[in-house]
Amino acid sequence: MSLVFYSLHSMSPAMELLSHLSLLSFFLVSLLLMTPSYAGDEEHRRSYIIHMNKSAIPDPFAAHHSWYEWILSSLPESDGESPTHLYTYNHVMNGFSAVLSSSQLAQLERMPGHIATYPETYGQLHTTRTPHFLGLNRHVGLWPTAHFGDDMIIGIVDTGIWPESESFSDDGMPPVPARWKGACETGTEFNSSNCNRKLIGARSFSKGLKESGLNISTTGDYDSPRDFFGHGTHTSSTAAGSPARNADYFGYAPGTAIGIAPMARVAMYKVLFATDSLVSASTDVLAGMDQAIADGVDLMSLSLGFPEDHFYANPIALGAFAALEKGIFVSCSAGNSGPHAYTIHNGAPWITTVGAGTIDRDYAASVTLGNGSIAPFQGRSIFPESLYTSGSPLYYGHGNTSKETCDSYALDPKDVAGKFVFCSFGDVNSQMDEVSRSGAVGGIFATDSAQFLNPSDFYMPFVAVSLQDGEKVKEYIVTSSPASPATVDITFQLTVLGSKPAPQVADFSSRGPYQISPWILKPDILAPGVNILAAWAPNRGWQPIGNDYLVTDFALVSGTSMSSPHLVGIAALVRAVHPDWSPAAIRSALMTTAYLIDNTHGPILDMITGTSATPLDFGGGHVNPTKAMDPGLVYDIGVQDYLDFLCGLNYTSDQMMVITRKSNYTCTNPSLDLNYPSFMVILNNTNSTTTRFTRVLTNVEEGPAVYRAVVYAPTGMSVVVKPETLKFEGENSRQGFEMRVEIDMAKTDMVRIESDYIGNYGYLSWHEVGGKHVVRSPIVSAYGP
Ligand SMILES: *[C@@H]1O[C@H](CO)[C@@H](O)[C@H](O)[C@H]1NC(C)=O
Ligand SMILES: *[C@@H]1O[C@H](CO)[C@@H](O)[C@H](O)[C@H]1NC(C)=O
Ligand SMILES: *[C@@H]1O[C@H](CO)[C@@H](O)[C@H](O)[C@H]1NC(C)=O
Ligand SMILES: *[C@@H]1O[C@H](CO)[C@@H](O)[C@H](O)[C@H]1NC(C)=O
Ligand SMILES: *[C@@H]1O[C@H](CO)[C@@H](O)[C@H](O)[C@H]1NC(C)=O
Ligand SMILES: *[C@@H]1O[C@H](CO)[C@@H](O)[C@H](O)[C@H]1NC(C)=O
Ligand SMILES: *[C@@H]1O[C@H](CO)[C@@H](O)[C@H](O)[C@H]1NC(C)=O
Ligand SMILES: *[C@@H]1O[C@H](CO)[C@@H](O)[C@H](O)[C@H]1NC(C)=O
Ligand SMILES: *[C@@H]1O[C@H](CO)[C@@H](O)[C@H](O)[C@H]1NC(C)=O
Repeated sequence: MSLVFYSLHSMSPAMELLSHLSLLSFFLVSLLLMTPSYAGDEEHRRSYIIHMNKSAIPDPFAAHHSWYEWILSSLPESDGESPTHLYTYNHVMNGFSAVLSSSQLAQLERMPGHIATYPETYGQLHTTRTPHFLGLNRHVGLWPTAHFGDDMIIGIVDTGIWPESESFSDDGMPPVPARWKGACETGTEFNSSNCNRKLIGARSFSKGLKESGLNISTTGDYDSPRDFFGHGTHTSSTAAGSPARNADYFGYAPGTAIGIAPMARVAMYKVLFATDSLVSASTDVLAGMDQAIADGVDLMSLSLGFPEDHFYANPIALGAFAALEKGIFVSCSAGNSGPHAYTIHNGAPWITTVGAGTIDRDYAASVTLGNGSIAPFQGRSIFPESLYTSGSPLYYGHGNTSKETCDSYALDPKDVAGKFVFCSFGDVNSQMDEVSRSGAVGGIFATDSAQFLNPSDFYMPFVAVSLQDGEKVKEYIVTSSPASPATVDITFQLTVLGSKPAPQVADFSSRGPYQISPWILKPDILAPGVNILAAWAPNRGWQPIGNDYLVTDFALVSGTSMSSPHLVGIAALVRAVHPDWSPAAIRSALMTTAYLIDNTHGPILDMITGTSATPLDFGGGHVNPTKAMDPGLVYDIGVQDYLDFLCGLNYTSDQMMVITRKSNYTCTNPSLDLNYPSFMVILNNTNSTTTRFTRVLTNVEEGPAVYRAVVYAPTGMSVVVKPETLKFEGENSRQGFEMRVEIDMAKTDMVRIESDYIGNYGYLSWHEVGGKHVVRSPIVSAYGP
């Protein structure tokens, strides 16, 4: 079981403390904090999700809600307490949630129509330049063609929203679409006047969390859609924020912050609250998704995850399946549990699972040594103040060999007072602590891991320089003399655009395959998720500086939490151009047109190894919005195909009923071979295997077209495609093909994900004959979980 913050570094000071605990102990801590202490009490009351067979509703009841109420009222009190009803679900499942004692539950489970019970589980959260980086242009391409996402409604299931942010201004927005059924709920510091033509709905779901014994108001969070933490404000403004002029993060990344689909509408469903930690209850998440479906969102994004379990026991997978049946596109964060294999979250095949990549923007300080005889160079810094220091004395504790230069208690406050300390190679974070403790002015750190430092690490005038530049600094200091002591000039707050190589796969981004259904390649795609600038809740200090915290309207945040809203914004644009496309067709267009090459014209790299990333890191590749509008062909998937996939998993009829909410579902062709735009071969402890795939392509261009198969396969993988040429008559015409993939691992170099040797990969591309379209899919083999 693993539990993850889906946004890194986006933690309050208290949360930062928790994040340093191991994931396991954090999980235990959370459970201890969340479980009311009825130790030893047989009648322990807990929250449960109860799935019912709606077809078994007894005659007298007109509506299922009154049936459920009757069931609850018919249960006896236990220890003087009656069951407490939490929610009745109308879309995501048939049933309700309630707080019950174990004897009440046992009785309920014997009643006719009961299908399954799942105890409450708790989920965790897993952030301008990105429109430009993604190639979105005001005048040509996807933005103007999609009218900037006009009329699309994006539901964000998250920590709430800060409605006063400039990113949610409705200047120039047309009236709210008449089909919208949502509402703006009143609660703590929030009422209907906080919504407008941009933020068209805002609701809050906390019953389940409160029942677990958490008191929302003790941490200052709002029992309303208002965002206390900042995360939901960030994800919403990333997906669909209005242009916010003069946005910056303490001088870094200045410019106009703008969402990916700036004319789309936002509806917030708050399900995550800052209590002792930042958690959500499964009953609340189901209620939020249920309401989003009822309100009529077109797309949904979730940047949170629950412990991974089978689809029938995972609230996000359940909610997303119901959404899919209504044609709603659902995108989710892949998780921040990378870089090891099999760390994917939210990998249900009807969800678009999004990994995180870097962008081509970096933050820097410029360093000039002494009298300038050495050319000035740049180091990484995100110190949040416009600071220029000139002629500052430089200190390097190289005289004392008993301690490394900046180890704990190696620096003597008397020696470093008024100086910048130079620290040679070591653990940067602990060196920063030591420089801070010593009372020095600031620090220069020689490191090869500057790219992994977060904004919050720069709470003092710190600069991280490369090892080569570190050697220059060291050389300069040791050759200086008392007569001409070492000094440095530093200019902070520089923003570097076009930094290379970009994108790279972020170190934290979760990697495939997906434990629960390894037969479908996950993640699906990569989108920006490192140091993303977007709106934040200015309600409290955020960026540490010295012993204090600075308040900000815009924050730089990293995580797959940030990549999902980018992807959903792009999906909204594609959907605005192609309103008749299914969620699977939109995903196929995004995946088959994604790119694999970075801005140095080399393969996209894995940030942590510095070597080529693989489809197990990025799925189809890095999202390419403008091409996604015009994919040529798509691999479409309908509801029945997903049912056949579930049938192929050999789920029992009760488990099928939980997901499909019907007893009359049919298995027309049980199969794990979905019509997916990627191919996955699971080796399962053998070195060789042959797998056959069947696929159908749909032409989404006007007019006839001919495509030819082009295979790239490494040694040890042989691929045969039949037929090799597909002729399409016109728009919506479909053609099938079969592909046989033979793997012999003994003959091949295996893909390495961190230290996990896992399989190999190639590509199948359909090239349009005499045309420009290329429809590319990865073919991946991997050992079973
Ligand atoms: C649901 O109830 C209907 C009607 O009573 C019954 O025919 C069906 O078998 C039930 N389904 C399941 C999965 O229990
Ligand atoms: C909402 O709250 C604001 C500020 O408290 C208040 O001025 C306004 O009248 C309220 N609006 C409604 C519809 O209650
Ligand atoms: C929650 O905390 C607030 C502030 O500490 C307190 O006033 C309130 O009574 C608490 N509520 C519950 C239900 O414990
Ligand atoms: C600059 O300083 C270095 C050593 O600190 C010295 O060797 C050099 O002569 C100086 N150059 C000038 C132009 O003062
Ligand atoms: C070197 O560091 C050690 C440990 O901090 C200290 O005890 C010792 O006095 C230092 N020696 C010199 C020469 O500064
Ligand atoms: C489902 O059952 C069939 C028949 O017993 C078996 O061949 C197949 O491997 C099973 N599938 C899974 C995913 O367990
Ligand atoms: C299942 O039953 C519902 C009504 O109970 C009906 O609307 C639906 O068409 C049926 N589906 C199938 C696949 O038979
Ligand atoms: C791998 O094989 C084992 C037994 O050989 C089986 O239990 C397991 O379900 C298989 N896993 C997959 C992913 O096919
Ligand atoms: C699979 O291939 C690897 C690498 O060539 C080899 O070490 C291993 O023994 C092989 N395993 C089997 C079951 O053949």
